[in-house]
Amino acid sequence: MFSKRVASDLPPNRLSAAVARLRSARVEFDDLTESNPTRVGLQYPARLLEALAAPAGLGYNPQPFGLASARDAVAGDFRRRGMRVSRDRIVLTASTSEAYSLLFKLLCDPGDDVLVPVPSYPLFEYLASLDAVRARPYHLEFHGAWSVDVDGLTRATTSRTKAVVVVNPNNPTGSYLKRAELDALAAHCRARGLALIGDEVFSEYVLDAELPRTSSVLSQRQALTFGLGGLSKGLGLPQLKLGWMVVAGPDALTRPALERLELICDTYLSVSTPVQEGLPALLAEGSSVRTQIRDRVTRNYRALLAAAPRCPSVSVLPSEGGWYAVLQVPAMQSEESLILQLLERDRVLVHPGYFFDFPREAFLVLSLLPRPETFDRAAARVLARAEAAA
Ligand SMILES: Cc1ncc(COP(=O)(O)O)c(C=O)c1O
Repeated sequence: MFSKRVASDLPPNRLSAAVARLRSARVEFDDLTESNPTRVGLQYPARLLEALAAPAGLGYNPQPFGLASARDAVAGDFRRRGMRVSRDRIVLTASTSEAYSLLFKLLCDPGDDVLVPVPSYPLFEYLASLDAVRARPYHLEFHGAWSVDVDGLTRATTSRTKAVVVVNPNNPTGSYLKRAELDALAAHCRARGLALIGDEVFSEYVLDAELPRTSSVLSQRQALTFGLGGLSKGLGLPQLKLGWMVVAGPDALTRPALERLELICDTYLSVSTPVQEGLPALLAEGSSVRTQIRDRVTRNYRALLAAAPRCPSVSVLPSEGGWYAVLQVPAMQSEESLILQLLERDRVLVHPGYFFDFPREAFLVLSLLPRPETFDRAAARVLARAEAAA
């Protein structure tokens, strides 16, 4: 009866079963997988949500790409970051996940594929399959720093490939695209008639400002390009459900893309009016949350770097930006067994590398969002357990 887009048999893995067991027994543990900014003790301005109560929110003026005032506010936010983006190229969405779905509908027929980075955000496969699209991996490689395997990506491109997805900076490796990589990917997309989708939800969380990075895929204009962002990560407000995409590239491609996107967006009209009406104030007044998150992830990353030398078998992979850190740990036992020990003996939950499709073991992924006292206590236990296993 049901579509194959949704898997019918998702067996609980040992880790999720162990977490469920502890939760039902009300055993507390430190959660270093926490990536929900509303749960980590940030101070949200008390009056922030007053912006949602403006009387204008009682009117309904359906606009496929969103209200002009809200899109102007997004354009203004790009100006703050030193980028010129015209309102006509901005499309509001309910979230980045929805933006992916709209783009897959725009670009792909059922059975087509999109190239996605590995290791990266684990949701790509689900997002693609919900739109009857295949996610084909291309690899990020680590040689002291992360780089895109551009040759591998070229080889992975098929006659059914419609887009290349980049995450800049990537989750969880924290690697920004380098200029030469962006140029190579854009040239490949242009030559093969592919779109370039840049997920830049973490772009403002720079952890190491010394390292070279490209702040946006929008800095090139060769290929049909979509830059994705939103309030979820940009202001730590995932519950408000407002994201955006910026359409860029040669006019001959952006024009038909925008015409078709308008039809798709007009079919759903998924962004609520109050959040659009409130957007200028949210962007202005919510910036203190972004600053707190930036301070938090930077502080926790530095604390991890400072603590790690006490455990010489563990290395903290260099992270240039984002909300995560990656530890390489001795592969004397499986990631799963180490993670279960951490949970059951040390009362710390971390993500295994396999969750993000690291090509080999053993890696652990730590969220840098938790409160400093939680982070320091839990990270010390992770380092000690991994060292003891060496
Ligand atoms: C790389 C990346 N893109 C997109 C998202 C989802 O963002 P949104 O809440 O806007 O759907 C996440 C959430 O963790 C993410 O890590």
